[in-house]
Amino acid sequence: MLLGQKILLVIGGGIAACKCLDLIRRLRERGASVTPVMTRAAEEFVTPLSVSVLAGQKVYRDLFDLTDEAEMGHIQLSRAADLVLVAPATAELMAKMAHGIASDLATTLLMATDKRVMIAPAMNVRMWDHAATRRNLATLKEDGVLVAGPNEGPMACGEIGPGRMAEVYQIVDAIGHALVCGPLRNRHIIVTSGPTHEPIDPVRYIANRSSGAQGRAIADALAGLGAAVRFITGPVNTEMPEGALVTRVKTAQEMLEAVQGALPADAAVFAAAVADWRVAQQATSKIRKDGSGRPPGLEFVENPDILATVAQMASGRPRLVVGFAAETDDVIANATAKRKRKGCDWIIANDVSPETGILGGAENDVTLIHGTGTEDWPRMTKELVAHRLATRIAEVLNG
Ligand code: CTP
Repeated sequence: MLLGQKILLVIGGGIAACKCLDLIRRLRERGASVTPVMTRAAEEFVTPLSVSVLAGQKVYRDLFDLTDEAEMGHIQLSRAADLVLVAPATAELMAKMAHGIASDLATTLLMATDKRVMIAPAMNVRMWDHAATRRNLATLKEDGVLVAGPNEGPMACGEIGPGRMAEVYQIVDAIGHALVCGPLRNRHIIVTSGPTHEPIDPVRYIANRSSGAQGRAIADALAGLGAAVRFITGPVNTEMPEGALVTRVKTAQEMLEAVQGALPADAAVFAAAVADWRVAQQATSKIRKDGSGRPPGLEFVENPDILATVAQMASGRPRLVVGFAAETDDVIANATAKRKRKGCDWIIANDVSPETGILGGAENDVTLIHGTGTEDWPRMTKELVAHRLATRIAEVLNG
C-alpha cells in the first residue's frame, strides 16, 4: 500500500513518542521507508537506539552534526521524502511550525521542505483547547498542513478529552490517503473562490453575495484526489479547505497577483465572483454627505479579468483552464460566448436567478461547456458538483 514511499518522521517530545516505535513498524510493513528525526525532548521518552533499530536507518538529531551535513545536508534530507510526518506533534512544535521558527534540526527541516507535511497532534486537553494552539492549528491548516487526529479519551496525564495522539492505524491510513490514493497526485492546481471587496473609502467597499461554498468544495475535492491545491480566496466566513495552501486576498488586483505568483500549474479553476469594477480613486478618508442631497459621484475602472489573463497566456498556460459563468438569462448562449471570449477550455454555466435558490444555497445546477459540446449535470449538492468536476479534471490531466 505504501510501497516505495519515503516518510521523514519527526518525533516530538511527548509521551506519545512511545507509539512511534509501532508506527515505524507498521509503515515499514506496508513498504514505506522511514527516516527518523528526533528532537532533544523526544529522546526523553524513547531512545534513539530503539528508533534506529526499528527504522533500519540512523536517527538524525543534530543540525550541526558535521558528518550528517557531509553525507546529506538538512535541505536535501527534507526534500528526499515523499511526506514529512510529525508525530507526536507537541504544542511547542505546532507553535514553532506556525511561526516559522527554525531552532533545531526538526524545525529547520519543516521550514525547508517542499513536500506535504502531516501532523499527528498529542497534548494535554487544556493545551489542545488553548487559544494559542487553536490559532496555530488554523494557521497550519491554511499552510496546507494535513492533520491526523487527535482522538478523545483518557490521557497519560490522567485527564480525559481531545488530545490523545491518533492511533497508529489511523495515521497510517491518513498517510496512505494523502500519498497514494489520488489520481491527481503530483498535480498542482489553482482554485480562486469567494467574492472580492473593492474599497470606496476606508470604511466602505463594493462586494457581492458569493459565499465561496462552491470554490471551497472544489478545492476540497481536488485535494482529496491528491492534488497540491493553492486556494486563493476573497473575504469569506466559511472554513478553509482541508490540505490546501490558502492565500487570502481582498481585491481583484490582489487576486490576480496571487494567481500569477502561484503559477505554473497543471490546471486552474476560477470559481471566484470577481468584481468587474473598482473605484478609480479610493478616498483616503470617509466620504461624507455634502448637504446637497446628491450622492457622491464615483468613477469606476474595469478590473483585470483574471480568468482571461491566464487562459490567454502565450507561454506557461495551465493545461486546463476552467471558468464559471453565473448567468440569469440565456444561460447556455451567454456561457458559450463567454468561454470563447475568455479563451478557457471549460466553462461551468449555472443559472443564478433568485428563484433557483442557487446563490448562497447548498445545491447547484450546472452545464459543463467545452470545445465540442455541452454536458447537462443534474441538480446536486455543491460537494457533488465539485467531486464530479475534480474527477473530470483528473481524467484530462492523466489522459
Ligand atoms: N473572472 C475573473 N476575473 C474577472 C471577472 C471574472 O477571473 N475580473 C472569472 C470568474 O471567476 C468566472 C468567469 O470569469 O470564472 C466568469 O465570471 P462572470 O462574472 O460570469 O463573467 P464576467 O467577465 O464578469 O462577464 P459578465 O459580467 O459580462 O457576465
